[in-house]
Amino acid sequence: MSAVETRVAGLSLKSGNPLTTATDAVVVATTTDNKFSIFADGLTKAAATKLKAALQSVGATGAKDELVRIPATGIASAKVIVAVGLGSTKNGINEEHLRRAAGSATRSLAGFKKVVIYLPATYAGAANAILEGAALGAYSFTDHKSSTLNKSKSPVSSITLFTSQAKDSDFRKALDRARIMAHSINFARDLINTSPLHMPPAQVAAAAKKVLTGTKVKVQILDEKALTSGGYGGIMGVGQGSTRPPRLIRMEYKPANAKKHVALLGKGITFDTGGISLKPPASMHEMKADMSGAAAVIAAIRVIHDLGLPIAVTAYAACAENMPGGGAQRPGDVLTTYGGRTIEVLNTDAEGRLVLADVLVRAAEDDPDVVLDIATLTGSAVIALGHRTAGVMGDDAVRDAVKAAADRAGEEFWPMPMPEELRATLDSLVADIANIGQREGGMLSAGLFLKEFVADGLPWAHLDIAGPAYNSQSAHGYTHKGGVGFGIRTMVAFTEDFITGVI
Ligand code: BES
Ligand code: ZN
Ligand code: ZN
Repeated sequence: MSAVETRVAGLSLKSGNPLTTATDAVVVATTTDNKFSIFADGLTKAAATKLKAALQSVGATGAKDELVRIPATGIASAKVIVAVGLGSTKNGINEEHLRRAAGSATRSLAGFKKVVIYLPATYAGAANAILEGAALGAYSFTDHKSSTLNKSKSPVSSITLFTSQAKDSDFRKALDRARIMAHSINFARDLINTSPLHMPPAQVAAAAKKVLTGTKVKVQILDEKALTSGGYGGIMGVGQGSTRPPRLIRMEYKPANAKKHVALLGKGITFDTGGISLKPPASMHEMKADMSGAAAVIAAIRVIHDLGLPIAVTAYAACAENMPGGGAQRPGDVLTTYGGRTIEVLNTDAEGRLVLADVLVRAAEDDPDVVLDIATLTGSAVIALGHRTAGVMGDDAVRDAVKAAADRAGEEFWPMPMPEELRATLDSLVADIANIGQREGGMLSAGLFLKEFVADGLPWAHLDIAGPAYNSQSAHGYTHKGGVGFGIRTMVAFTEDFITGVI
């Protein structure tokens, strides 16, 4: 399967008895309530007792994130039963917790085809989280496997959530939303995981076109000629050291009932060597994920379209390959960005902000009501916040709205300041601004740099996803190793909130 034909497991809802259904595996929940309990709503007492005893006999405790697998013989018609621990449910169960539990279960069940999920889907939001998590757990990326393909276990291909409310219209909506979201997140993961040899800027553009074909989203691609004549000096400067030229992908969703307009901008560095300011080799291969912001905005506009949200969205994916070829920009070069402002490039590895400078100015011409940019922008974001938390900065109200949307969507973001005194460290001797500031607080001066290119009075926030975009640690919950597809849920949730006027 090619990187743009994305996969999502078949999702469905069903009422009835999960233990007597023909399937390969059943996922059940355990808790530490009253020492050890199982979720057994609707099961016969006899069946529940048997299941609980079987799980206890192999040492299940119900602890949060515990995963226990037992043979289903004598308990269910399936081959195996997987029990996921929810810990204590005394204070309720949050949706992200359900999402992770369902995801770690389906992730652990790679190799099995049909999975029945029997977790506490007590309301539509919980059902959505469970289905979304399960679909995200059922993912694998094998596009580049050949002779070892038969060694990779196929992800779960069919997921059925058992609930007495299978016919409820809110539950049906929750199911559709999970399918839409997981499809686009897996699409973004595919783009990120694809070898950078196979994913130059033109390929990102082709993938965007393909995933948006047949939708109402208009896609316009600016190639290197259009970018040069249009004055996109930031994007062209970054890409000039590569034999594979930049692309700017502009996507427009404009439903008739839209009253507001959101702009989403993504950093799309298809590979970041650092350029002439070359990066050390140790984990340079992970820099194929430096287009995660671009993947996220393409995926997000597809979700917003599929959900039919009544709001206009313009998305820009600014794509270039940052290579140290003979034509590469030099430290000391001065670029003229879209709109005419000049930047002295003191470090060619601070390239994300150069491509974003162009699109921040360009996007303002569309007259949006708010702008979000999303980028794997700084190593200092990883140092400050670790591998799982993204930083968000910008106008107070937008920043807080992004944080609130992220909390609702189950993604970890943390608000960051933009200390005024750091601005002066970006002053250039020869140009309007330099592309690096003082080393300390590097995530913050990157934000201050971007702010210079945001039109006066235009509400804006910057999402630095350098930490969570790519999982180089072990897999957890619904998060696999490799491309994560981070930020899509937050941008969609933010856009939904914006319709009803949070800011
Ligand atoms: N793509 C990197 C940032 C990055 C680092 C993302 C680690 C994910 C993991 C970015 O282009 C970069 O290299 N930034 C430099 C900027 C510095 C030269 C001011 C950095 O953060 O080191
Ligand atoms: Zn860089
Ligand atoms: Zn980069």
